[in-house]
Amino acid sequence: VSRVIPVETFDLVIFGATGDLARRKILPGLYRRYLAGQVPADSRIIGAARSAMDRAGFQALVREAIEEFVAGDKLDPAAIAEFLSRLDYVAIDAKGEDGWPALAALMRQGAVRAFYFSVAPALFGDLAERLHLHGIADADSRIVVEKPFGRDLATARALNETLATHFAEHQIYRIDHYLGKETVQNLMAVRFANILFEPLWNSQFVDHVQITVAETVGVEGRGAYYDKSGAMRDMVQNHMMQLLCLIAMEPPFHFDPDTVRDEKLKVIRALQPVPAEDIVRGQYLATGGAPGYLDDAENPDSLTESYIALKVQVANWRWKGTPFYLRTGKKLRARASEIAITFKEPPHSIFDDASGWRENVLVIRLQPNEGMNLKVMIKEPGPGGMRLTQVPLDMSFTEAFGEEGTDMPDAYERLIMDVIRGNQTLFMRGDEVEAAWAWTDPIIQGWEARGDRPKGYDAGASGPEDALMLMHRDGRRWREIK
Ligand code: BG6
Repeated sequence: VSRVIPVETFDLVIFGATGDLARRKILPGLYRRYLAGQVPADSRIIGAARSAMDRAGFQALVREAIEEFVAGDKLDPAAIAEFLSRLDYVAIDAKGEDGWPALAALMRQGAVRAFYFSVAPALFGDLAERLHLHGIADADSRIVVEKPFGRDLATARALNETLATHFAEHQIYRIDHYLGKETVQNLMAVRFANILFEPLWNSQFVDHVQITVAETVGVEGRGAYYDKSGAMRDMVQNHMMQLLCLIAMEPPFHFDPDTVRDEKLKVIRALQPVPAEDIVRGQYLATGGAPGYLDDAENPDSLTESYIALKVQVANWRWKGTPFYLRTGKKLRARASEIAITFKEPPHSIFDDASGWRENVLVIRLQPNEGMNLKVMIKEPGPGGMRLTQVPLDMSFTEAFGEEGTDMPDAYERLIMDVIRGNQTLFMRGDEVEAAWAWTDPIIQGWEARGDRPKGYDAGASGPEDALMLMHRDGRRWREIK
């Protein structure tokens, strides 16, 4: 299909290889990369977990994962067998010494070594320490860590310090899978490879920005994790923050990891504290026989939000006065993520009847139906005089690129390959994560201190009523979730 960048031979060790993330995303993703020619013949994928299991047992588990999570047209028995032959397994005790010598014996000289910590953060320190103790990690090895990266600034700092005891920053890959999404990367291409938008990309011309990540799923099955987290920690501190950064940051002078991350960091540091009146939190209600949030979380007293809307101000020269409205939630009307940039009015209207006038809006659809839509004003066709009407300049990835436009590597696949290539651009740096928590913490502490109760909203709707007011009182409205 598309152009594939070759990678070096690697030994990838997945700690937590029998867990949910490995089964759903990491292992099926590696199989797809193998099909694309990005797993060189002598590369090895080594599962490591607590379960006593042999190599054949692990291969059987991975075969099942592939059959369950990879599209049918990619399930070629010969290819699966060949892929499985590159797998190995070690039963390992993260907190003891069992299994480590066996793992050390499997590692080969000359291959890139990467260690994916797909385990609870409480184990990061133990794993990092033992990788060194047993001489398994070297100065070029990489470790990959998943979110949640802490639950506040203090815990994130502690995690960073623990990892830093054994690994340098250039070896640490903190995953935010939103950065691996094709359309999210496209934000940078749209902004910095076109001259059209950048001159207008500031508070002089942009009225406001809306960032929406709406989901239809609830928290069923993962209530125990989610109830301690909530939408702010689960989505805003990381994924939405990254989207905001890519929209708001200054043009980096070069497309390299630290230059890009320096610019993102400046945005996060410029974020203003958010007052209570600029926050709306919600919880989905039991609707039409389906359980509500409190049932799914198995916590009748829960004050955790499954929806949040915020008005965010970026206090710098470029954005002062242009609010960013963020909203994300579970059990909403549709699965729809988008960024909409609404521009201001032209300074003066030359038309007598400007009643048809509406703002220019640039909508970047992240998922599903990825694409871009620029709404512009034209004359309404026909003899009815100079009447204005708005039309879309619409681009969808599928229409523009056909099959290739839809057959894109999943975020995890792309990010894992970036780890092997040693490219950190799409990973969060330690200071970035800490700055994001430093902004998030007082917001959460604020509502905890006030004892705020999330507002109920119907499943399948577009969130709590109060969220509408957040925009209405500023004379603006949310775009429809559809
Ligand atoms: C995860 C969150 O990080 O992102 C989930 O923990 C959320 O709660 C998911 O559903 C959304 O990711 P995507 O790729 O489906 O938009």
